[in-house]
Amino acid sequence: MKNITTIFLVIFSTLAFSWVGLVLSSHLNLGGLEPTTAELDEEGNPIEGDTLNPQPLSGIARTGKDIYVDQGCIYCHTQQVRAKGFGADFERGWGDRQTVARDYIYQEKVLLGTMRTGPDLANIGARNPSKEWHYLHLYDPQATSQGSIMPPYPYLFEVREIGDTPSPNALQVPASSAFAPPAGYEVVPTERADALVEYLLALKIDYELPEMKNSQ
Ligand code: HEC
Repeated sequence: MKNITTIFLVIFSTLAFSWVGLVLSSHLNLGGLEPTTAELDEEGNPIEGDTLNPQPLSGIARTGKDIYVDQGCIYCHTQQVRAKGFGADFERGWGDRQTVARDYIYQEKVLLGTMRTGPDLANIGARNPSKEWHYLHLYDPQATSQGSIMPPYPYLFEVREIGDTPSPNALQVPASSAFAPPAGYEVVPTERADALVEYLLALKIDYELPEMKNSQ
């Protein structure tokens, strides 16, 4: 009986220690982070009138985030720019600064990712703001990026017969693409593609924070 109590106490204190170390101390350190301005006033408060960052995602971009999750984009893409000197993220142009805890405060699901089969996407909305490019790239990655090994997502688009006039949002698919529509047909994004592209364009770390300036 005595042994069981000791074993229980040892297991309990091991779990309690890890919980305090991992959960409680991170929560005390980072749990209260709020959006803020790039500079602070003398009292350490955000400057009134300056933009607060980070900003929450719009409704449609939030839907796009769910699509990003269920399409498995996270298996090949990270959303974290490493500090200068830790890898080549700066040299690759993935961000103007490293990402910090405050950048993620609005995210219930933080999609840091672990694998970089493709480039980091933390700042893709600032790095490549072209909607047309993103649509075409998702429809057929090889049409924008020759030799790309990213899988195509043609099912996020609809191939349909052209009506009286082509739709204004029809993709300009090059004839050389394996997914080029037959003559008389056009490729238009579905709502899922619209939401996903809105999400990609909202991924931006193009602001400075008091604790992290550009080029750091
Ligand atoms: C099997 C791995 C893989 C998966 C899954 C994948 N990608 Fe990619 N992605 C890549 C590779 C490799 C590249 C670089 C070549 C290119 O531009 O296509 C890339 C490039 C990109 C780029 C351009 C990045 C830049 O810096 O130019 C974006 C945006 C992107 N992917 C978004 C997505 C989205 C959204 C999904 C999910 C719907 C996704 N990827 C799924 C491998 C992947």
